[in-house]
Amino acid sequence: MTVYPVTENFAAEIGDVDLSKPLSDADRTEIETAFNHYSVLVFPDQHLSTDQHLDFARNFGPLETTIHAARSDAKLRVRAEIADVSNLSQDDQIWGKESRKRMFEMGNRMWHTDSSFRRLPAKASLLYGRSIPPVGGQTEFADMRAAYDALPADMKLRLRALVAEHAIMYSRKKLGFTDFSDEENQTLPPVPQALVRKHAGSGRIGLYLASHAGRIFGMTEEEGKALLQQLIDHATQRQFIYTHRWRLHDLVMWDNRCTMHRGKGYDDLRWPRDMQRATVSDVAPTCEQEGLAAPAAA
Ligand SMILES: [Fe+2]
Repeated sequence: MTVYPVTENFAAEIGDVDLSKPLSDADRTEIETAFNHYSVLVFPDQHLSTDQHLDFARNFGPLETTIHAARSDAKLRVRAEIADVSNLSQDDQIWGKESRKRMFEMGNRMWHTDSSFRRLPAKASLLYGRSIPPVGGQTEFADMRAAYDALPADMKLRLRALVAEHAIMYSRKKLGFTDFSDEENQTLPPVPQALVRKHAGSGRIGLYLASHAGRIFGMTEEEGKALLQQLIDHATQRQFIYTHRWRLHDLVMWDNRCTMHRGKGYDDLRWPRDMQRATVSDVAPTCEQEGLAAPAAA
């Protein structure tokens, strides 16, 4: 296996490994070491069945099931362990301009970290490109450890004690999307998340932010939202960003504990973009990991 840094500390390309085959212990250790250092790993030219994609992801922990399984009437295009990040409907045709799926997935254009709206959020996401548009559709990643390092000392100290409240409804509402069933509202309630986290794999400290964050406990709504926006603006400055231009059959694995990402626009009513994500759960809720008391929901 070979590791080629794309940037000094944030993104790397990994070569000479075939992810369709079971990993050796040495390769798994090397990938974990690179993952903990870089946050974003790009594995080019991988040819994976769904089973092989999921089997590779399971090397790093238990898998999530897709948020869309929260609706008992959901008809999924792919298996429940796959988050369908495509612009395709159940019959593999490009979605309709006003389809619910299209409106919901517009939320991916906002900076976020995957599954911070779950009490037990995502550790890693492994997104595989089965078909890609010829132009557009890049994924941008923001380095939340570097962003934390660059904050003034008094700000760092102040943030360490704070807890934010995250919900999928908060990020969707920002776009005007409110089409959730009672069932979804009940199964996806707001959850507390530490605003600053110690990264288990490196010991480094990072901001933990997302469009899903709607308020900060102990602050007025206005004060909390203003601080969240200030921090997202800070963390997404050019010097903290890596932009991934997708090639067909790239698998990109990123660390949701210390990054944010967003999908860039493309002509989604013209080009099929079949991206499928396997998602590895974290080991414990973030407040528990940080030793913070988790406040009750607002
Ligand atoms: Fe995402």
